[in-house]
Amino acid sequence: MIDAPAPPARTPQTALARDLVALRRTLHAHPELGFNEHRTSATVRAWLEERGLTPGPALAGTGFAVDIVGAHPGPVVAYRADMDALPIEEATDCTYRSQVPGLMHACGHDAHMTIACGVAVLANERREDIHGTVRVFFQPSEESVPSGAPVMIEDGVLEGVASAFAIHVDPSLAVGRVGLRAGSLTAASSPFVVTVESGKSGHSARPHETADTIWIAQQIMSELYQLAGRVTDARRPAVITICRMRGGDALNVIPNTVEFGGTLRCVDDETLTFLREKIRRVAGALGAVYNANVDVDYHHVLPAVVNDADAIGNARGAAQDVLGPEAVVDLPLPSMGGEDFAFVLREVPGAMLRIGTASGERTRYPLHHSRFDLDESALPLAARLMTEVCIRDLATRAA
Ligand code: NI
Repeated sequence: MIDAPAPPARTPQTALARDLVALRRTLHAHPELGFNEHRTSATVRAWLEERGLTPGPALAGTGFAVDIVGAHPGPVVAYRADMDALPIEEATDCTYRSQVPGLMHACGHDAHMTIACGVAVLANERREDIHGTVRVFFQPSEESVPSGAPVMIEDGVLEGVASAFAIHVDPSLAVGRVGLRAGSLTAASSPFVVTVESGKSGHSARPHETADTIWIAQQIMSELYQLAGRVTDARRPAVITICRMRGGDALNVIPNTVEFGGTLRCVDDETLTFLREKIRRVAGALGAVYNANVDVDYHHVLPAVVNDADAIGNARGAAQDVLGPEAVVDLPLPSMGGEDFAFVLREVPGAMLRIGTASGERTRYPLHHSRFDLDESALPLAARLMTEVCIRDLATRAA
């Protein structure tokens, strides 16, 4: 472990901070949805080129990576930023508000890209301290399905990479704070749709003459709600939430098809795999008992973000040295939300950190809120922190 305090950043902080704020505001004003981040990608690329960096070819459509090769040999650490915005109409009145009707950077990905640009510039200035290579990469489509991380991996962004880091902005933490958690940070999730089909409609007076699809669907739903904690270890959180029900029309006709669906979330991948199979078997068995065909369709699986304990230990030291001994907040619980950086951490060890961005009422709206905004003084702090995290991680691995 390296206990020396961080060397002071050599970029004049005020100049870099000003540059980062300007970049973030440009990105914020022009949000784009997943895999359509063309203008965003060009803006970030040009910003890096103006500062003497050499971004690589396009990956996953609008994504790309830029390598900062250190003065000393060693492994490659990846630093990831996501690029896409959300289909939300922005309700803030800030000068840099979204100029695209119906789209908004409400999840802070504009800040994530900006911080990554800061990491690239600061790492480039600290090449003498770098034992290996810092690969900063920009990824399309974190929010939508299919998501961008698996495509970036297919396109080779992790080739030769030993470890990976990312951040997410967090409006529940004050500026200057860093939220850390070893193990699961976000949940694994799996949306599902269950279809109950009898092949014929029936009379409401005589449900025994048909398969009562609505009643069968309701039996399946109540079984599903009881699975978590009964057939899974109660110490491993899991939640099944049904969010959609469709079926029937007339008040006296039993429909031949009923469909319902929702999302299964667990903080570990094993419980998710187990429950997926259990849902399929419970639904199928109830259908068989009551003479209906039941199909369970799983759209996709998003794994859990599982932070490596050593990577978190390294980040803790860096945060205390760069931001002060009070900076670290240990996050007691994982989020049941999803994050596709999980695909990266399935390939290599590393961690996602949460960066505080709140400093008052205006900056405390939750992620995905139409009034979400952040305190921009978090941008240079996070850039300095994550540069230090990457450099220390390389030094630890090269040693
Ligand atoms: Ni996000």
